[in-house]
Amino acid sequence: MKFVLKIGGSLLFDSEQKLNMDQFNRIADVIQQLKRENHELVLVVGGGVLAKKLVQKGKTLGANREALDQLGIAATWVCAQLMITALEPIAYPTPIMTEDQLICLKDTEKILVLGGLHPGQSTNAVAARVAEVIQAKILLNVTDVEGVYDRDPKQSPEAKLLTEITLTKLREVVSSLANEPGAYPLFDNRALDIIERAGIEIWFINGNPPQNMLQAVNNRKIGTRVIIS
Ligand code: UTP
Repeated sequence: MKFVLKIGGSLLFDSEQKLNMDQFNRIADVIQQLKRENHELVLVVGGGVLAKKLVQKGKTLGANREALDQLGIAATWVCAQLMITALEPIAYPTPIMTEDQLICLKDTEKILVLGGLHPGQSTNAVAARVAEVIQAKILLNVTDVEGVYDRDPKQSPEAKLLTEITLTKLREVVSSLANEPGAYPLFDNRALDIIERAGIEIWFINGNPPQNMLQAVNNRKIGTRVIIS
């Protein structure tokens, strides 16, 4: 299967908000397994709490929105470079930082790893755009929750997991959430626009344990699938 794998930054930090290198290794092991099974994938890595902390620091300096986004992007590059190190030697040695670079390298045998690309979006929009460029029809979005709920599961314990939703419904959920540097929750509008025009399916799953990625790719229905409508 050809797909884009988006690893949410929330998976890469421990409960003390420190980078969790064991987790990087566990995720890298699964990606190596996917590669051995001949799946074709490009990886996009989020910046998690490091992005949020840098954005906070930038705010104390009075940074504008674009500068705050650049700080968030810097965090994603750190996480992307660490993931590349954990994947050694099967990943391209540095994060892909522009669309031109992606287009030039998309046929390489190495796994390409991206973080952020440009201000005003999240790495979900990067993942959507990468899927469009490489013509992948699936975006596997791996986070620290089981999928998309009918309300915020961190606030309401009675929130129900939706196993399948339409893109229209996802749009409704996303538009009810704030969109700002360091906090583009779930998905951003730019990402949804790309998903819609390119006809990409999004599968949301929990990355704990990372083996869930193998299950999803090998077609076990876990998490939430967003169907194009
Ligand atoms: P993330 O995609 O990591 O943000 O990018 P997130 O919403 O916190 O998602 P997860 O939890 O890590 O998956 C971190 C920040 O970097 C900036 C944004 O400010 C974003 O909130 N960013 C990222 C950009 O401005 N452009 C990009 O292409 C990517």
